[in-house]
This record gives sequence, C-alpha cells and structure tokens, in this order.
Amino acid sequence: MAGGDKNIWIVANWKSNKTIAEALEWIGQVGPQIPKAEWLKVVVCPTFSALSEVKKAITVGNFPILVGSQDLSPFGNGAYTGEESAQNLKELISLTILGHSERRQNFAENDEIVGRKLQKANESGILPLVCVQSTQTPVPSGCGLVAYEPSFAIGTGNPDTPENADELAKLLKGSYGEGLEVLYGGSVNSGNVNNFIIQEYLSGVLVGGASLDAAEFTKICKIVGERV
Ligand code: 13P
Repeated sequence: MAGGDKNIWIVANWKSNKTIAEALEWIGQVGPQIPKAEWLKVVVCPTFSALSEVKKAITVGNFPILVGSQDLSPFGNGAYTGEESAQNLKELISLTILGHSERRQNFAENDEIVGRKLQKANESGILPLVCVQSTQTPVPSGCGLVAYEPSFAIGTGNPDTPENADELAKLLKGSYGEGLEVLYGGSVNSGNVNNFIIQEYLSGVLVGGASLDAAEFTKICKIVGERV
C-alpha cells in the first residue's frame, strides 16, 4: 500500500472551468481507468453548474470517484441569494474545498468565514478540505483534512519541494494532532506527483491545472495507484 496504512487523496480542483459537456467527456475518459483501492481516494471538484451531471455520470458508471464542491455557503437555507447551502449540496457531494487562496484573494474569504463554512459542512456530513497557505493560516477546530497550498506554487509550474511540503505537514500535525491528514497543492503533475506521495507526513495532492486534462489526470492516478 502507498505510504503504509494511510489514505492517499488525489483531489481535482477544476476551478472555474469546463462546460457540462466537457465535464462529462472527462468523466467518461477518466472514470473507467481509475485504480480501485480502499486507500485511494480520488475526488473531482467541478463547478456548481456541472455538479449534478457529474454526480449522475459517476453513479451510473460506478466509478471510484467522489464528488466535491469548491465552496459552500456559510449560511443555511433561506434568503441568501446566490448561495449554495450544505443542506442542498449534501445529496451531490462528499467533500468541499474551503478557504482556497483564490477565494481569500478575490472574494474576501477570511478565517472567520472559513470556520462558519466548515461548521455548515460538518453539520451536513460533508468533509471539509481547508486550504492553508502556511503554518500562519489557522486550521479551524473540527477540521480533519487540510491542503498546504503556498501561493507561489499555484498555477506557476513552480511547486514547493516535497521535503518542504512534508515539513509543513509534520508541523501541522504537531500543532493540530496526528490524525490531521495533510495534502500538498501547487503545480502538481504526473512528473512530480510521486515525489509528494512518498513523503512520510503527506496524505496526497490537490491538483489544479493538471486535473483539467483527462489523460494527464488519469496518469497521475495510475502512478499513485501503482504504489502498492
Ligand atoms: P495548480 O495545480 O494549477 O498549481 O493549482 C493548484 C490549486 O490551486 C489546487 O487547488
């Protein structure tokens, strides 16, 4: 098994990309090729507009892929125009990405809002994946899964070193408990993924740009899946 008895997560963050047709084409290509293993947790996080169709295609194909969202509302159901509540999303998703640096930069998301969203996710049985940029970003209580995503590495082709990422994971586990699972994100691709998943304290990767291409993402999953 890859990395002892721990889970390895491969989370695809499509960001604001793909029409429904493009999303379904991706699922049709990637789905049948994902290695099946209890410890391998492959998640795809499409846009809200594609969530329902993506979920349906994965269910019909019986593919070993979980569906996640890239955000959710800090409120419940009610008069919150434009928001997607955890209560409504829970029939579609298993996981939600919270506190991504792009949301912090462009949408004024802060630690307090992330904490409220996390609470809503947990109340609805959705697993929150909180993005932290360094050890300075607080991990809210009730969070069991984080992604270390340094801003300099996002979309730049300039990933942090696997050793640095592992050190960060070690520090985060030291601060918040050994049970905290820590992923790395930032310019991960099929050429470097192995260097991250072999690290002692890391439990997988969060993949942006390289997840958009079906063949490249499949390659990433196969490389990780072969580490049995
Ligand atoms: P890239 O893989 O494109 O660097 O994006 C990383 C990221 O932000 C994933 O959430």
